[in-house]
Amino acid sequence: MSANERNLRPVSLPDDWNPGSWRGRTALQMPVYPDATELAGVQDELRALPPLVTSWEIQTLKQQLADAQEGKRFLLQGGDCAENFADCSSAVISNRLKVLLQMSLVLVHGLRQPVVRVGRFAGQYAKPRSADTETRGDTTLPSYRGDIINGPEFSAKARIPDPRRMVKAHARSAMTMNFVRALVDGGFADLHHPEYWDLGWVTHSPLAHEYQRMVANIGEAVRFMETLSGNEVHNLNRVDFFTSHEALLLPYEEALTRQVPRQWGWYNLSTHFPWIGMRTAAVDGAHAEYFRGIRNPVAVKVGPTVAPDDLLRVIDLLNPDDEPGRLGLICRMGAGKVAERLPPLLEAVRREGRRVLWICDPMHGNTEATSNGYKTRRFDNIRSEIEQSFDLHAAAGTRLGGVHLELTGEDVTECTGGARDLSEADLERAYRSTVDPRLNYEQSLEIAMAIVRKHAQLKPPVSV
Ligand code: PEP
Ligand code: CO
Repeated sequence: MSANERNLRPVSLPDDWNPGSWRGRTALQMPVYPDATELAGVQDELRALPPLVTSWEIQTLKQQLADAQEGKRFLLQGGDCAENFADCSSAVISNRLKVLLQMSLVLVHGLRQPVVRVGRFAGQYAKPRSADTETRGDTTLPSYRGDIINGPEFSAKARIPDPRRMVKAHARSAMTMNFVRALVDGGFADLHHPEYWDLGWVTHSPLAHEYQRMVANIGEAVRFMETLSGNEVHNLNRVDFFTSHEALLLPYEEALTRQVPRQWGWYNLSTHFPWIGMRTAAVDGAHAEYFRGIRNPVAVKVGPTVAPDDLLRVIDLLNPDDEPGRLGLICRMGAGKVAERLPPLLEAVRREGRRVLWICDPMHGNTEATSNGYKTRRFDNIRSEIEQSFDLHAAAGTRLGGVHLELTGEDVTECTGGARDLSEADLERAYRSTVDPRLNYEQSLEIAMAIVRKHAQLKPPVSV
């Protein structure tokens, strides 16, 4: 069946599903809103607002993810652990875009493949928490669950879940999308001008030389092609950028789930590529129920405790028709466990002949606390989990199709190690994350370079 036919004709339209059918299941990590009428009113307001993305874009991404499954593209998915309302600013958004563009340039150049660029932004406002409450001294309050739900300040008032925050999150997401689209369409991503993506302090970076040399090579190649053809190469001046977030807060996602003229089924139009977090991935849970009915490409986080049979059940539920580009599995095992935990999953999926996109999240299995009380991740562990994953896939006859990273364009010190060998003592200098530690600009670029090096090692030598 062609991609076009698939859009017009149901593969298997679940007739026992609707955008609210998740309400019949156990919904973990959900805030308890004090006023149900106010919540319903906010949902109605959201339903009347324009969506953030379109179904065509979603279908385009699905096709690109299908290509990545077949080894024709590589997925780069990255951004903050959590966006917050205060950081919806020109500098934060454009710096994050710059890092992602630079990384994708490194990957395109080194892998000799197009890259699918997906941001963790324009909606990454809800966070799962390991505890429902937080205690400081004698006071216990509900945990902070992300700006779309409540406030981070440690006060009873700030921590009450407020449904109006969903409207604000929708607006901030729209502003972020609008700015990203305007930058990309206006030529910010133009390969003729990679200097647009320079970050002020990059020139001092230990990696600057390698990166600049690569940019110069690409510049020469572009000029050569243009001289040869006598024309400017126009399709180098824009790129596709897609969005993703953890679709945790189901009342919000439900309100942005729409039917679209001339297309069958329902789309989540709050983002292109939503994922289910590890803590809410139970096959009989509310999140899995919601995800099975939408037509977006979707992903699921897979942690070290997932057994092969459980994973196959999740695959059956979310992609019963084995649709290309539909399902990503974002594995986050940790550098110390991946060699033991990943191979049985690869083997089971390969044996059953299921079509999935394997993605490595080398961040969430490698979080630790320092003696001075910071949540951090060691660069070497992050790199190691990616490198091991490439090797494990090669051994299993499967394919690692992308990476999922927490990163920022800001000059933060949240992960240790990397080219500047940040120490635990350095973390105090610029630790800004309210949740998980992110790779800074240099560490992100270094990861892109490490991926390229590893990929080159694995590729069979070309015979001449
Ligand atoms: C996250 O991606 O920020 C996250 C909470 O991940 P996980 O669900 O894998 O723990
Ligand atoms: Co995180």
